[in-house]
Amino acid sequence: MTPIRDSAPHGNARRLHVLTWGCQMNVYDSERMSDALAPLGFAAVGEPDGADMVILNTCHIRERATEKVFSELGRLRRLKDARAQAGERMVLVLAGCVAQAEGEEILARAPFVDIVLGPQSYHRLPGLLARVEAGEAGVIETEFDDDKFAALPAPRRLSPVSAFLTIQEGCDKFCSFCVVPYTRGAEHSRPAAAILAEARARLAAGAREIVLLGQNVNAWHGAAPAGGDWRLGRLIRALADLPGLERLRYTTSHPRDMDDELIAAHAEVPALVPFLHLPVQSGSDRILAAMNRRHRADDYLRLIERVRAARADIALSSDFIVGYPGETEDDFAATLALVERVGFAQAYSFRFSPRPGTPAAEARRADMVADIVAEARLQALQAVLRRQQAAFNAATAGRTLPVLFTSPGRHPGQIGGRTPYLQPVHLTGPAALIGQTRMVTITAAHPNSLSGILVADVEERACA
Ligand code: SAM
Ligand code: SF4
Ligand code: F3S
Repeated sequence: MTPIRDSAPHGNARRLHVLTWGCQMNVYDSERMSDALAPLGFAAVGEPDGADMVILNTCHIRERATEKVFSELGRLRRLKDARAQAGERMVLVLAGCVAQAEGEEILARAPFVDIVLGPQSYHRLPGLLARVEAGEAGVIETEFDDDKFAALPAPRRLSPVSAFLTIQEGCDKFCSFCVVPYTRGAEHSRPAAAILAEARARLAAGAREIVLLGQNVNAWHGAAPAGGDWRLGRLIRALADLPGLERLRYTTSHPRDMDDELIAAHAEVPALVPFLHLPVQSGSDRILAAMNRRHRADDYLRLIERVRAARADIALSSDFIVGYPGETEDDFAATLALVERVGFAQAYSFRFSPRPGTPAAEARRADMVADIVAEARLQALQAVLRRQQAAFNAATAGRTLPVLFTSPGRHPGQIGGRTPYLQPVHLTGPAALIGQTRMVTITAAHPNSLSGILVADVEERACA
């Protein structure tokens, strides 16, 4: 099969512009929607101007993410009106987690939207488009349907070097602050055979790294190809045997679902990179209980010890929320103490954002942390996390590491890649190395990235 590249549409191809916000699962979903529309003659364009269809794939996780959607809709309305005046049509699709959460509300606020499409219904997009083209206005599809992955066509594109592969969707954990269980529905795992087939296709199409995705990726448990049930550690071993695969990663995990088999995979599967994103959210047991995380700070610390016993050099990453309703100075101090105990290579931290319909939004009414306090805590936490990241990066300076090159670099003549610890590396080198792994000596560490030199270049200089 010849892979299909994104290209400027020609002839009478229809123009599709997809704008993606949110997590990596939305990036994956956007690709799959484009794949589903390709047989109808749609090809991707980089701008919404002149597009026949625009899809906004949205995120609802924090208030600011949702606000962005409505300001973007205002801009698209003007483009849509201008196109209508020229006698042409722009079909406007609002997809993703905002679509699922707000449903009919969207059409009340923005009646010029043609299709409101929840994340479990992307395979229905061609059928919904046909209804709009037949004259129907404001079509809404927000049913949960477990067959989405089976019903979507196989990926049709040339794969990026690092390819996303969603293996699990939805969440049954119901952390009190989080909208995901409502927007993505119940936990659902794809069968191992379908995952292995998609991974093989991605590797044949040029991928060298597969990033396994799920809202709770380590809750994955799926039908094994020869019967029975596998968990993630076993799936990782099967994927690592596929020809052409150099690296495997998985994100995002929940501490409660890190089982022995998965931890052992970190010790025993060379393709599994020494990197783990494991959100903890808070270091205070009181706040963790209020968040319904169902683990204590000590459980997390013990888990980190077990992971480090399996893979001493593992780079750790996490998510934190500060300013959760009722968070005191002592609670926040416990978070800082946990951060100091673990030592993170990188991390994401957020100010609590009350989300409509979640228990934490209700709790906030009674026990709100003042914005100015939450902001000060966020700044203090981020200062510590930045210092830890800089220290982690500095420790790689002078080392020689395998770098998988994934893209052109920031400047002409540069290429970009990542170390096994996921640090971005930029260096001067030929574009032909994109898709390959080469040994690189790290020459300088910056706050968020590294500079390096190819080992072959180091040797040439030594000989000169
Ligand atoms: N499933 C993952 C987990 O178990 O933590 C991640 C879910 S979410 C897509 C990514 C991060 O967003 C969360 O880990 C949390 O730190 C943050 N987040 C979720 N809801 C939030 C809220 N209401 N306010 C602030 N941050 C939030
Ligand atoms: Fe949200 Fe993650 Fe908690 Fe699920 S486990 S509710 S996705 S934060
Ligand atoms: Fe956002 Fe939905 Fe992902 S809320 S973070 S796009 S699961």
